[in-house]
Amino acid sequence: MVETIEWTAEGVVMIDQTRLPRETVFVTCRSYGEVADAIKTMIIRGAPAIGVAAAMGVAIGVERSDDDFELICSTLAATRPTAVNLFWGIERMRRLHATLAGQSREAITAALIAEAKRVKDEDVAICMAIGAHGADLVPDGKTVLTHCNAGALATAGYGTALGVIRAAVSAGKKIDVFADETRPFLQGARLTAWELQEDGIPTTLITDNMAGHFLKSGRIGCVVVGADRIAGNGDVANKIGTYSVAVLAKENGVPFYVAAPISTLDLTLTSGDQIPIEERSSKEVTEVYGVPVAPVGIAVQNPAFDVTPNRYVAGIITEKGVAYPPFTESLARLANS
Ligand code: MRU
Repeated sequence: MVETIEWTAEGVVMIDQTRLPRETVFVTCRSYGEVADAIKTMIIRGAPAIGVAAAMGVAIGVERSDDDFELICSTLAATRPTAVNLFWGIERMRRLHATLAGQSREAITAALIAEAKRVKDEDVAICMAIGAHGADLVPDGKTVLTHCNAGALATAGYGTALGVIRAAVSAGKKIDVFADETRPFLQGARLTAWELQEDGIPTTLITDNMAGHFLKSGRIGCVVVGADRIAGNGDVANKIGTYSVAVLAKENGVPFYVAAPISTLDLTLTSGDQIPIEERSSKEVTEVYGVPVAPVGIAVQNPAFDVTPNRYVAGIITEKGVAYPPFTESLARLANS
């Protein structure tokens, strides 16, 4: 499995996810500004991976610049608004930093670098635990449908939704995967299809508008997706198109599961309506790899995420176990356990 992100002596090294699967290229970020740009331009993406990048961004900022700590944090926080893991990662570094007041610059830097590396290592362990809890929910002998990329590339390794699939395969279940291509950024076609193919897990790529057809066919045993932010009531923000899949799953009696770490919960929000939704460049819709596919001047909307109301969610798989409806109680219980 590839390393999504790594702390090295040269800087924060990331696989460039904008260039997969055509080329496997690694980018070295040598400043916190470069880490912020990598998050903004989606060289690194996926909620947990963004959280790790933010923590490493804070560490490299303190190590290599004389900028004010709060400027480093706010620059990283201004990159993408929806995935709460970004703010969680920064907050974790901020909390540690506050305990280090009065220590030498070397000591502060060393402690922050160690913490950022811990955030990464813990994320892999968390994904493995999510996989272990979710594997039982995957029906043997059926197909799992997933949307976007919630895999090793979206985390520090193993993945959340794809972690559940990997764990089910490791447990000996005979399953295959349908991956939605995930317009407009094509995370499903470019990243999920690539990483599952690398792992030898049987995978079929479909366009987003085919999901309903296959959910109706009886072939799909369950849907498993990741999340960017989950409100206290279990409403789930995830890649645009997730909501449509969830509604179609319910209509066809197929359970729709969300796999995410506890760090993706935002219990300060009582409803998904309060989750900020990122609007991205219109070019992602009007162009494919720089080739125009729409008339010049056409009006475009490009929300990067949507919110799936909790009534469509059969369960939320976390590293601490699976939360079932009613989510306000079950999520709070898991978060505080
Ligand atoms: O815009 P992206 O590619 O960062 O969006 C990613 C997703 O929506 C993922 O499903 C989510 O972050 C979960 S990743 C484990």
